[in-house]
Amino acid sequence: MEPYRLHVYACEQKKAEGAPSCSANGSAQTIEALRREIQRQGLAGEVQVTACGSLGLCTRGPNMVVYPDCVWYSGVHPEDVEEIVRDHLAGGRPVERLSSGDEAAVRAEIDGNRKKMLAAFKAREDAGVLPEDLHQSINGFRDSRAILTAVELDLFTVLGGGGDAPGVAERLGADPRATEALLNALVAIGLLEKSQGTFTNGPVAARYFVEGAEHDSRAAIMHTVHLWPRWSTLTECVREGTSVKRARPDEWTEAFIAAMHKNAAFRAPMVVRAVDMDAVRRVLDLGGGSGAYSIAFAQAGEDVAAEVFDLASVLPITQRHIDEAGLTGRVTTRVGDLHDDDYGTGYDLVFLSAICHMNSPAENRAMLAKAFRALEPSGRVVIQDFILGPDKTGPKTGALFALNMLVGTRGGSSYSESEYAAWLEEAGFRDVRRVPLPGPTDLVIAQRP
Ligand SMILES: C[S@@+](CC[C@H](N)C(=O)[O-])C[C@H]1O[C@@H](n2cnc3c(N)ncnc32)[C@H](O)[C@@H]1O
Repeated sequence: MEPYRLHVYACEQKKAEGAPSCSANGSAQTIEALRREIQRQGLAGEVQVTACGSLGLCTRGPNMVVYPDCVWYSGVHPEDVEEIVRDHLAGGRPVERLSSGDEAAVRAEIDGNRKKMLAAFKAREDAGVLPEDLHQSINGFRDSRAILTAVELDLFTVLGGGGDAPGVAERLGADPRATEALLNALVAIGLLEKSQGTFTNGPVAARYFVEGAEHDSRAAIMHTVHLWPRWSTLTECVREGTSVKRARPDEWTEAFIAAMHKNAAFRAPMVVRAVDMDAVRRVLDLGGGSGAYSIAFAQAGEDVAAEVFDLASVLPITQRHIDEAGLTGRVTTRVGDLHDDDYGTGYDLVFLSAICHMNSPAENRAMLAKAFRALEPSGRVVIQDFILGPDKTGPKTGALFALNMLVGTRGGSSYSESEYAAWLEEAGFRDVRRVPLPGPTDLVIAQRP
């Protein structure tokens, strides 16, 4: 079977810093250029590109191999890609000057490199050097902190069309030596580019981290900036069994809701598709945040009205989103406290997205009992959250999110499907079912008889 006329395997192998590899030689840019060029020359239906692990010619990357022609190329950079696509992939004439060499030489080089690699692994193991991925996990905070500091300083916006380190430092009101170190590190991370002492934003930074960019994510990332001091208390929280630093900076709410909104606006259409809206007229969105889900529920049908129930500090932001969506009056807001206040009655759907993880099991049981009373007979509760497996060790995002709740709440955590099912049944719900969604969170849906 051959679903494509040609199949290009392009190596994107990453190796420990200092070791030769295709990724260290810029394979990501080559592969991106190759995919773009194949598209541009109208070959997307005939030629498939698969990024793959090591092809074994590590010192000469980026490497790729074209099947079924069995042509190997080495040292392919973005500027070579047009020629390969035009002459070989379209024209059937391999590009000799980029050939990896004759069969025997290529084979000998691959075998030699494999021996060297195995010897290097053994030497590391014998010396007790930490495995590379573990080393990366332990030191991952450095990348994270450098990016968060740059966002906190709004460095990417300030950099604008580019600048040298002293100029950028002056614009930031920061120290020149320290600014230069940060700029250099951001180049190493891949967010900035540097040429003859001038720094410029790379494409990713320009897309997400610059004021006015279409996908400006700075406000949402500021939420992660605010989480950093809490995570630094994790050791103490584990000893104490609860969060030890719940104080929030003044800018917390705006950044928190911006982060929630970015995720919610993306997920809302798939949540609405997964929930049968046929018999739904009134939705109660408990802790509805920015209102993104309520807006999507209301957009599902002209006779659907949704109410966002949240804290007084949040609802002005919610109202802004409702007005922008043109749903003023059909999506409404109500100030309330999930724990202290009644939820009202007469709803067909009660939605709880990213709420249960903030609470202890006892708080969730009380909340679901109130949600039950708020529903009409046959009404449904829909929970969206990280749902852990029975032993709570995965999925990884959910297991780590339990720590996010440990450092930030009195009794919150990530919970398993059986815990949700037990609380829902205790509250009187029936037909509890889990609906998997793409991404890290799923739905649990149950019905009031
Ligand atoms: C993690 S956010 C989820 C927002 C929204 N449901 C979503 O999925 O995007 C939690 C929301 O619950 C609200 N909240 C937290 N504690 C609350 C309380 N005691 N009463 C009412 N709302 C609360 C927060 O203000 C925030 O909007």
